[in-house]
Amino acid sequence: MTQAVTTRNRQKSREWFERAQQSLVEGVNSPSRGAAVYAPGPVVLERGLGSHVWDADGNEYVDFMMSFGALIQGHAHPELVAVVSQAMAEGSHFAAATSAEVEAAERFRRMVPSAEVVRFANTGSEATMLALRLARAHTGRTRFLKFEGHYHGWYDPFCLNGHSHPPEQLGSPENPARIPDSEGIPPSTFDDVVLAPWNDAAMLERVIRQHGHELAAVITEPIMANMGCIPPREGYLQRLRELTSECGALLILDEVVTGFRYAPGGCQEYYSIRPDISTFGKALGAGFPVGAVAGPRAILDRMRWGNEMVLHYGTFNGHRLTMKVIAANLDMLSADRTYSRLHAMGDTAIAGLREVFRRRKVKAIVQGFGPMFQIYFTERDAIHDYRDYCAYVDTQRYSRFVHLLLDRGIYMTPSNGLHWIISTAHTEPDIQQLVEAADQACGELA
Ligand SMILES: Cc1ncc(COP(=O)(O)O)c(C=O)c1O
Repeated sequence: MTQAVTTRNRQKSREWFERAQQSLVEGVNSPSRGAAVYAPGPVVLERGLGSHVWDADGNEYVDFMMSFGALIQGHAHPELVAVVSQAMAEGSHFAAATSAEVEAAERFRRMVPSAEVVRFANTGSEATMLALRLARAHTGRTRFLKFEGHYHGWYDPFCLNGHSHPPEQLGSPENPARIPDSEGIPPSTFDDVVLAPWNDAAMLERVIRQHGHELAAVITEPIMANMGCIPPREGYLQRLRELTSECGALLILDEVVTGFRYAPGGCQEYYSIRPDISTFGKALGAGFPVGAVAGPRAILDRMRWGNEMVLHYGTFNGHRLTMKVIAANLDMLSADRTYSRLHAMGDTAIAGLREVFRRRKVKAIVQGFGPMFQIYFTERDAIHDYRDYCAYVDTQRYSRFVHLLLDRGIYMTPSNGLHWIISTAHTEPDIQQLVEAADQACGELA
């Protein structure tokens, strides 16, 4: 086994973070990056190459966060560096028609089964926002169903029960308490939202019986990725597909996390589900900001210019440099064995961690499979939904565990709601280093 490195000196990280307080809210640009998650403050990163990152003090880490999954090819992949350098020299963006966006879209369509056409935006949040607008226009209905604990970006109507709360605040599964994730959203926004527990087919049938006729859409993550990593129960997504078809609601599959990660065509390919609309981001852009909405012409063509069009604008839509990156990224992902390797590497990491917890007699499970997984400190055998996560997962213990890993050269967010990511850049020695660091961390875990 490789020797896990202890990386304790973070003086420069502390100095940068202190300085950041003067000019950035909370010293960061998203609460998930600052002191709300990292104690006493974040590791300030300076550089990345392949599967490794270096912080401001020169400490080296194996990165398993990978920009929340955006870096499917790791850091500074040489092919992408070359593509970006050339695209930059030619002119990074014109906000005009380009051949680059056609080449990106053609590759996208070849990989994603339900993508008759695609529209590019800049973030996953923009993609889900557009998907909902399209669904409402297409069905002539306003309400939509979202599941507890699912995150679809920060657009107002999606910001309901996206954070964990003490179980006693959640209400009953039949009548869930509706807890906004943010101030500043008019309460009436949520009048259009039907909220339901996920991964329970009987409950879904009940909710659809009651509300199906008024739903423009049901939006779901195929694998729940914002309470760690929670796969669907067998047959659940298929039942969801049947029920939405029966009631005339569109199925929006939010593949912002899972797209281009589990299979070339994402989870819709992996689970053989044909959504009406699907949304993408993260891995699609290999580190560049992008969102995408895909589906049949009958729905997406509603964006065509005219009096009754669905509006979608954006100065940076189809950003040329990003489109060049996407074309190169999708070509690399289409190579033989990419996905079998990603799955094998992830499964090795999962097996290694499970063995450490078993040997160390630590009550923890590793949930997920292949390129994405999460560790839960819990007495349960599995976490099946938001309510399980809120009731049975010791997120504080997880945070302590990850801080111990950070001291041993493993970079990961201490937030239990996120998940471990395997990229094409990870290697067997990286996994060995993770397993050894986890073993040491278990030894110190109070
Ligand atoms: C499932 C899902 N949908 C949408 C989004 C929003 O994407 P972005 O952060 O690019 O706006 C996220 C982000 O984490 C996500 O996990």
